[in-house]
Amino acid sequence: MRADPGAESFVFNPFVEGFDEDPAPVYSELRARAPVYFWPLAEAYLVSRYQDVLAVLKDPRLSRSHRDNARYQPLPEVPEYQEYRSATENGLFQVKPADHLRLRRLVNPGFSPRAIERLRGQIREITLAALAGLPAAELVDLAPMVDDIPLRVIGRLLAIPPAMEPGFLSFARARLLLINPALSFEERDELIRGLAPGYRDIRTLLAERRQRPGDDLLSNLIHIEEEGGRLSEAELIGMVESIIIGGADTTVHTLRFMLLNLLRNPEQLARVRADPSLARAAMEETLRFDHFNKFGTPSFVLEDLTIGDVHIAKGSTVIPMKGAGSRDPEVFARPDEFDLARADLGEAHNFGLGPHSCLGAHLARLEAEVVVPTILEQLPGMTLAGPPQFTPHLFFRVMSSLPVRRGMT
Ligand code: HEM
Repeated sequence: MRADPGAESFVFNPFVEGFDEDPAPVYSELRARAPVYFWPLAEAYLVSRYQDVLAVLKDPRLSRSHRDNARYQPLPEVPEYQEYRSATENGLFQVKPADHLRLRRLVNPGFSPRAIERLRGQIREITLAALAGLPAAELVDLAPMVDDIPLRVIGRLLAIPPAMEPGFLSFARARLLLINPALSFEERDELIRGLAPGYRDIRTLLAERRQRPGDDLLSNLIHIEEEGGRLSEAELIGMVESIIIGGADTTVHTLRFMLLNLLRNPEQLARVRADPSLARAAMEETLRFDHFNKFGTPSFVLEDLTIGDVHIAKGSTVIPMKGAGSRDPEVFARPDEFDLARADLGEAHNFGLGPHSCLGAHLARLEAEVVVPTILEQLPGMTLAGPPQFTPHLFFRVMSSLPVRRGMT
């Protein structure tokens, strides 16, 4: 299918009023009028039709590593940045393809459904603690309530001792802020320097677990390292960072949109209450229907290629827009309906495809299955008390408020 002849006059505008609340109309226009669209603001090609998004995700001629971006700027060579640079270069998102394969093979077993299942009780305990922090009012806000849950779960996965948890949370939050490409030099510099105590704590933990291994992910990874000398200390720290970057904000945003969509669809909410295992499908449908990422993970072109009828030169940036692709009527029946029982849900590939597919997909699904049903169980009469509120963000739809009535009065 070719783009609409009026494509030249089309201007993609994600800054229109209401985009954060519902980007679907803009996505629909983009798919129809300019399915492969060069967006000057991001200096990137936006790909919005399902089949093109899928092709981009699978194409080995596209790299996820920012080092393959023609506009890549290495960090200044100052000693204070050394630890951050090393962790980033050795983390799963940036590491070279050959090392990436090796690292994934080593770490994948630690994220298998069986390995993750042992966190079930702790996820419930963390959720109950978050619920206990809600004010004892009829009107409560569920958006900030879920803020800490995924990071605290990651803390349990790594067996961070309770005394180190506050330091771990602030390290992780600072590290998450660093993924924002729009930071000024000063903001970036301050954040990087602020990471030092966190790196120190991780090294302390690694040293302790070498002496006294436990039944946790870090101990298992160290054990692998010592058996074959295959996971260096830099790679271990890079792995901790990758898990934080991959598993925290993604899950927070998704849990919020799950709660919103279930509250908007009381019949489907009742089904999840009756059978909590349906929360997994609710998470998948939420990601298909209401993705928190406005655009997508940038990919960098390693050799000239063509998408649709658009020629794209080596060094360019391509952004596969999953949120747009998963509303494509060519693939999904009734794409604009939230339906956790839809037959075509598996087509959404919410956790990616290929070598970089989500390491934490089973953990994310378990979090959906425990966190949301625990909230529904503890707030049995809850209803939406108004529209959600959004806070501006460069690439996420950040729901800052989700007001609900407890339904107790
Ligand atoms: C609802 C929550 C989540 C969603 C929607 C999600 C989605 C994704 C997607 C689509 C990718 C592939 C990105 C690409 O193609 O480059 C990915 C990668 C990744 N995710 Fe997740 N994820 C979630 C939760 C988690 C959790 C809980 C963890 C770990 C605790 C995690 C860790 C990772 C890591 C480490 C990668 C990089 C894998 C690699 O490059 O080899 N994610 N995630």
